[in-house]
Amino acid sequence: LQEAQFQSNVKSVGSSSQNEANEYLAFCEFLEKSSGITLGENKAYLVKNRLRPILEAHNVENLSAATELIKSGRDAKLKLEIIDAMTTNETSWFRDQYPFEYLHDELLPKLTGSRMSTPRIWSAACSYGHEAYSISMIIEEYMMKNPGCFPGGIQIIGTDISSRVVESASAAEFDYLSIARGLSEERKKKYFTKSPDDIYKLNERIKSRVRFQRLNLLESYATLGKFDIIFCRNVLIYFSNENKADIMNKFSRSLQKDGVLILGASETVTSHSTAFEMVKCPRGVVYKPV
Ligand SMILES: C[S@@+](CC[C@H](N)C(=O)[O-])C[C@H]1O[C@@H](n2cnc3c(N)ncnc32)[C@H](O)[C@@H]1O
Repeated sequence: LQEAQFQSNVKSVGSSSQNEANEYLAFCEFLEKSSGITLGENKAYLVKNRLRPILEAHNVENLSAATELIKSGRDAKLKLEIIDAMTTNETSWFRDQYPFEYLHDELLPKLTGSRMSTPRIWSAACSYGHEAYSISMIIEEYMMKNPGCFPGGIQIIGTDISSRVVESASAAEFDYLSIARGLSEERKKKYFTKSPDDIYKLNERIKSRVRFQRLNLLESYATLGKFDIIFCRNVLIYFSNENKADIMNKFSRSLQKDGVLILGASETVTSHSTAFEMVKCPRGVVYKPV
């Protein structure tokens, strides 16, 4: 009898871990389809930890119940919250430095007086806004050295799939930790006002050049209009080759003829898409539509 009980326990442990594996696979499929984010096989623990408070708040029993609910289209809020929780929002000021030097030394001089319309820059997958605001600081510094160079100003749009980070970016207020990486003391003093509760508020001139909105890179970009420069860094690494190719093709349609795409230091697109050619610059590469 004891042996039979033992075998039955082994079977039920086996089938419950099989159920959990299936539950996890179904969730990964949903996540990739709706956001492009691909998870490795060994991220089940991370998923459980990140989603536990959300499932509890929505009174949803487990991951399969959540996946089913979302697939049925009955809970759009749960879907947004889950995608939001699965995003990795790591960012910093002037990340990798060379794209910002290139912007200052090469791209802005070329844009000066090149067209009558207002130049436009897109920070795609902008996270908490550090990239978009770093771009705005570079523009500020360039304009100080070259008075009157952009009479109509320059527009910067930051977009991200996570409404949480988009809201935070729009507020342009940073705590001690999020101000820490990548900003010189000089820029900290020049562009932020520190409140008594240690919140750093970004100056209006830098903030007002940038507008943020939620946008999923898997969806259409048609409503955004055309850009002179697109920064899309440290997000494509999470996507399948098929999604990368699709995004590249859409980026090429969103750029002006002489526009430039800047990717993250470890990212490349030429093997996924023929829409761009790689151009070497002094300390890295950029991409131009062909
Ligand atoms: C690691 S952060 C990179 C932030 C910034 N570009 C940088 O390089 O510092 C990746 C960002 O991509 C966003 N993201 C992930 N999937 C996305 C999608 N399908 N559409 C738009 N943004 C997405 C995440 O929410 C996250 O904020």
